[in-house]
Amino acid sequence: MRASLVVGNWKMNGGLAANARLLDALVTGFPRDDAGETPRELAVCVPFPYLGQVQAALSSSRIAWGAQDVSAHASGAYTGEVAAGMLVEFGCRFALVGHSERRQMHAESDALVAAKARAALDGGITPVICVGETLAEREANATAAVVTRQFGAVAAALGSDLPRIVLAYEPVWAIGTGKTASPAQAQEVHALLRGALRKARAADVRVLYGGSVKAANAKALFAMQDVDGGLVGGASLDADEFLAIARA
Ligand code: 13P
Repeated sequence: MRASLVVGNWKMNGGLAANARLLDALVTGFPRDDAGETPRELAVCVPFPYLGQVQAALSSSRIAWGAQDVSAHASGAYTGEVAAGMLVEFGCRFALVGHSERRQMHAESDALVAAKARAALDGGITPVICVGETLAEREANATAAVVTRQFGAVAAALGSDLPRIVLAYEPVWAIGTGKTASPAQAQEVHALLRGALRKARAADVRVLYGGSVKAANAKALFAMQDVDGGLVGGASLDADEFLAIARA
């Protein structure tokens, strides 16, 4: 059985004081054990400078943490990059890889995303690999082709390590726009990804949905058969909202 997972992506938001309040509320609000309920996991992916703060705040909780990117390299002359091995030293379990904001604004190619996923796994980090189509691609009926291509690059690079990833479907047109995919639209793409995972002998990989997830729509989205949880941007900055999503 796939344990549900909700991951908060703080993006480039936060500050020491605001983080402390948010983390405190999350620790207080997220139960320490799952007594009898469906197993569920919660994590936050935060800006690099706050990893130490988050590690100190969350280490005695059941909430995991991670980064929003990771280098494709293990060490060396790569100014500004952060290696998986460094993230491990700060207790990270996860790193987002191939978020659409990085694919678009930092020109990350499918090949680079695959190399980062490989580097994350080699360094002991679970990559949360993001795929998703733009509005133009959806309108051109290219959704299946785009996510299949993005997934295929990762599957080819990881081979038998593919079962160790988390996948996230984030339609670009739904990110930060308030326009969430309908549960049926999400399920359609998740089913496609599940089929591709099954073919690659990685049927148990969790596939999260991301894009304007809120407490108000989380339940309907997470009720879909192939939606195993969420990757939450804006709503992860509000403790009550984020905890309500985690309970959905
Ligand atoms: P929003 O939840 O703010 O739409 O962001 C989604 C996202 O990009 C999470 O990675």
